[in-house]
Formats: sequence, C-alpha cells, structure tokens
Amino acid sequence: MKTNLFFLLVAFFFSKEMTAQKFDNLAMTPPMGWNSWNSFQCDGVNETVIKEMADAMITSGFKDVGYEYIVIDDCWQIGRDENGYIIVDKDKFPSGIKSLVDYVHSKELKFGIYSDAGTKTCAGRPGSKGFERQDAETYANWDVDYLKYDWCHTEGQDAITSYTLMRDELFKAGRPIVFSICEWGENKPWEWAKDVGHLWRTTLDIDMEARYDGNIWGNLYGWSDLVDMQVGLEKYAGPGHWNDPDMLAVGNNNMPENEARAHFSMWCMLAAPLMAGNDLRTMTATDQNILTNKELIAINQDVLGKQGFKIEDFGNFEIWQKPLDNGDIAICFFNREITNKNYEINWANIKIKDFEGNYKIKDLWKNEVVGTTDAKMTIDVPSRDVVVFRLSK
Ligand code: GLA
Repeated sequence: MKTNLFFLLVAFFFSKEMTAQKFDNLAMTPPMGWNSWNSFQCDGVNETVIKEMADAMITSGFKDVGYEYIVIDDCWQIGRDENGYIIVDKDKFPSGIKSLVDYVHSKELKFGIYSDAGTKTCAGRPGSKGFERQDAETYANWDVDYLKYDWCHTEGQDAITSYTLMRDELFKAGRPIVFSICEWGENKPWEWAKDVGHLWRTTLDIDMEARYDGNIWGNLYGWSDLVDMQVGLEKYAGPGHWNDPDMLAVGNNNMPENEARAHFSMWCMLAAPLMAGNDLRTMTATDQNILTNKELIAINQDVLGKQGFKIEDFGNFEIWQKPLDNGDIAICFFNREITNKNYEINWANIKIKDFEGNYKIKDLWKNEVVGTTDAKMTIDVPSRDVVVFRLSK
C-alpha cells in the first residue's frame, strides 16, 4: 500500500513536471498589434477606447497587413474577491473583460491583457503574486490570447522563478496564450527566457514623448538609444522567442516623418514585435502609411526569424543587415546625423554576411527596383532617416 502511494506520488510529480512548459508554435513571427499604454496610460484606458481601437484596426488597414493583437495595458483591474480572483474596474470596463474579448474576437483580432509578477502593477493596481493560478485560469476563461507580465513591486523575487511560475500556470490553464515578459532586461532574459516566454523586453520603456535620443528622463529612452541596446542580442532571437525593444512610438507626440520611418524600419530590421502605441482613430496619413508599409513588414515577419545586426558603423552612419528566407538580404542604411548623408555604395567592400554573386536591389520605401549589386551606386540618406533595400536573386 505504502509502495503504491510512493509510485503515485512519483507519477504525480513527473506529470506536473511534464506539463511545465510554454506553449509551442505561438509567435512564430514577431507579434504585431496595438497596446494602450503609450497613448492612454492609466487614466485614459476604458472599454470604449479598446473597442474603437479594434474598429480602427480594421478600417485603417492595419489588420490587412498583419496587426492582430489588441492589448490592454495597466489599469483594467481594481481589486481581488475573497477567493483571490481579480476584480475588473467597472467604471472603466462596465461590460467586463470577457465581453470585450468577444468583441475583439468578433473582428477576427486577438486580445491581450496585462499583469505584473509582483504585489502591485507599475500603476499600483493588484499584481499577480500569490494569485498566479487564479489569474491564469481567469485569462483562459475569458479567452485571452496574450499576456504582458510586468516587473514592478517584485522586491526580493527571483525573475526566473516568478516568470516560470506564471508560464506553468498559463500552461495548466490550458489556453494557448502568448507570454510577453516585461522585466526590462534587468536579469538578461535573453539568456534564460527562451523556454519561458515568447518575447521579452530588453530595455526600460521607450520615451512616451517619442524623442529620438537621450536617456536623461530616468526610465525612458529615446528610440535610437534602444537600437544601440540591441547590438549583440541577435543570437538570442528566433521563431517563438523574440527580443522586444518596446512598443513603437510612431504617431506619438508628432514624431517627425523621417524619424518615424527610421524607427519603424529599425524595428523591422530587428525582428522586433510591432506593437503600435498611437491613437489609430486619429493618426495622420503619413503615420498610417509608415506603419502599414507591406515591404517593411515583410522584412519583420520573414519566416526565417533572424534578427538584424549591425555590419558597419561609421560613427553616425550605420549599415544593418537582416538575413531573409530564400537567401534574400535586407540592408538598412541609417543616418543618425542631423545633416543629410551622401554615400557611395561599393557592394564589394561592405561586410555583408553570406553575400554571393549579383543581386537585384529593391528600395523598399520607394517601392521600386533601383539597380543590381554588380555596380557601385550613390544614395542620399536624409537626416535621421534610412534607406532600406531588399536584395534578391
Ligand atoms: C511599465 C512597463 C510599461 C507599461 C507600464 C504600465 O513601465 O514597462 O510598458 O506597461 O509599466 O504601468
């Protein structure tokens, strides 16, 4: 009898261990969607905003080019009931989250939610610590598709343990949910999170005023600083596990067109998740065109899932490469000067990896073939702007 009990316990232990994994075959290309934080923060988010953003995702053509997740960030939650289940802020979300998920799903979009591994979220709402099981069950019952899991109020917690715990609870709850780790790169998640989550933030937050550079605001970085922080991380990314340099700031605070084009292009080159953070209902045609550029999105969503890397650095002028499926190569010339750059390309001299023979060159922002790599050419890269080429045979 005692022996039976022993074997039962061993079997139970192993069955639990075997279920301890993340959901496979999710986020095989970088997730694309929209997140509420950069435009609405805590006070501005509510169910009308989320519904209207889902509507705008369709009418603006975003869904057609691949954006699919609508993610509510912080401030949808207000407390816990006597059984530890989360209570939704009914002032902001009077119909409840489940009905909002159904609305988003009715548009054939996916729904994302936010919580935190600590006692409280960054905006001071209830965190998941100690309630991981209830929360994972709740999200699964609501048919949630994506969870962003933050790292505020986690004093004394171990990141690997905390994120692994939530991964396991999500898995046990049984609904495939993309798990987005948001511990800002503090514990080098690229080194351990491949089997824990589907994407992980590599840095602190992108500047909500969408500035180009400067990390003088405490925990906010200009987007070009975030680019620098991705150098060397390319080997950790691939299908189902992505480095996340934070949401897009295109369309926030009137980011100038040249900077918006460069920012978006670099996120595409980096195989970064493309989470728009602007108000899709009121965006300019320029921002809409940038965010929905199919040629650039194809670079980001390429099935090979290689993160781009820097191959030349001339101070304020850089060349980046992203290997693509079929032997194609994306090349991005990034001018960080405040003056225009005229640059003669001698293809034979650039350190492009796996570059063999002659390629046709397509300029992705002009959307036209501009030559072949067997001849030198000269490009003009405006200030804080890019030229992006797709090389193919
Ligand atoms: C942190 C995250 C942000 C956002 C806020 C919400 O700062 O890094 O992306 O989710 O919390 O409070």
